[in-house]
Amino acid sequence: MTRNYTPLPPLVAEDARIGPFRAAELIAADGSSVDRRLFVSDAIYRQEQESIFAKCWLYLGHESAIPEHGSFFTTTMGEDPVIVVRDQTGRLRAFLNSCSHRGAKVCRVDSGVTTLFRCPYHAWTYNTEGQLVGVPRMGPAYGDALDRSQLGLREVPQLESFGGMIFGNWSPQAPTLREYLGDMAFYLELMLSRMDGGTEAIGGVHKWTINVNWKIPAENFAGDHYHVPSTHGAGVQMGFRSPLTNNGYCIQTGNGHSIGSERGGAQQGTAVKTEYEGYMKQSRAELIAKHGEAAAAFVPIGVGTIFPNMSFLDSARFRSFRVWHPRGVDKIEVHSWCIVDKALPAELKAAVRRQYSLAFGPSGIFEQDDGDVWQSVQDAMRGHIGQQGRFDYQMGVGREAPTVERYGPPFPGSCSDMLMTEANQRAFYRHYAKVMSA
Ligand code: FES
Ligand SMILES: [Fe+2]
Repeated sequence: MTRNYTPLPPLVAEDARIGPFRAAELIAADGSSVDRRLFVSDAIYRQEQESIFAKCWLYLGHESAIPEHGSFFTTTMGEDPVIVVRDQTGRLRAFLNSCSHRGAKVCRVDSGVTTLFRCPYHAWTYNTEGQLVGVPRMGPAYGDALDRSQLGLREVPQLESFGGMIFGNWSPQAPTLREYLGDMAFYLELMLSRMDGGTEAIGGVHKWTINVNWKIPAENFAGDHYHVPSTHGAGVQMGFRSPLTNNGYCIQTGNGHSIGSERGGAQQGTAVKTEYEGYMKQSRAELIAKHGEAAAAFVPIGVGTIFPNMSFLDSARFRSFRVWHPRGVDKIEVHSWCIVDKALPAELKAAVRRQYSLAFGPSGIFEQDDGDVWQSVQDAMRGHIGQQGRFDYQMGVGREAPTVERYGPPFPGSCSDMLMTEANQRAFYRHYAKVMSA
């Protein structure tokens, strides 16, 4: 194959650094190769906590999980533990889950409804607005010297929702969530607004750990169709999904976000059928009526990653949101939800939940395939030699063009003319280089 390819200009300055290393050495200018140290260096991992997880918009959870005043759940932003709560006025807030006294976690459960968070250590007590409202033995212990107004929980300064998805950002200077999402907002809207009333998370949250660096699953869900026939070969043989074609897209929507899919629902197999597929067909017809025949490709949306560590999978049978929480350089805690349209009939919601559990979540056949192979990637980098060298992302290099050239308006972003490409991974690492060396 011949092609006309002009390598992309460097994104980072020649002397820019990531941790103790030269950025240009770690990540090729076009993202087509990255150094293995990205997945094993503690110094890089520490810097990710600061440059990425303390500065980017991070997915916290779905609004439907905290419907009433005082309802809350706990999660993390990077490694920082947070409480996300609907306060007594109905406003969404998030706080560092660490006592202003001497640091203990003030909330030690996954979720619930409360008016107060009482620290288990010395029992300082905070309300759902984060104010310190109770200090045991205040008079004898502190006299008049304790200014409680200065000792509230540390609040996440920016919290915004998009279609029911709650995101937080530790940086007061960060752009708005909408700006951060960029063109991804368009595709999220397609996925989240198929029915009036929006979406909800059902069946709680699945949590489990995998011994792998957080970027490996994030780049996989960014759109890695190449692994499907091999990693998920058994699922294909069983007829749970159809064999892969090369007919689909990988779209980069800016800021490291991307989506990828076979054309409209091609991934359904014949072994398991549910009525949900009929509903998706109807949604597809509605989108075609609105935007023309090419729009068929976007129901369902497929997989996607919102930089840095939120991914989704919208298939012809179910939808899942997930976050790859870093837990050290070689470990993640996965949080995964089943997402449905709120107005969907109860029996269809139940069908979606069954299909989600069969394929994804800790016992899902596809999820186990992925977890096993990701863990082997990390395992192979435990020794001195395995930590040297690079990973290769050159598939389909230079074949990206504006999405509208292929699908017409209004579909934004930049699109590869093939399904099997590593264009989305390159976009992820190019953005990573920019953020980490800023
Ligand atoms: S650490 Fe929370 S009350 Fe002392
Ligand atoms: Fe997979």
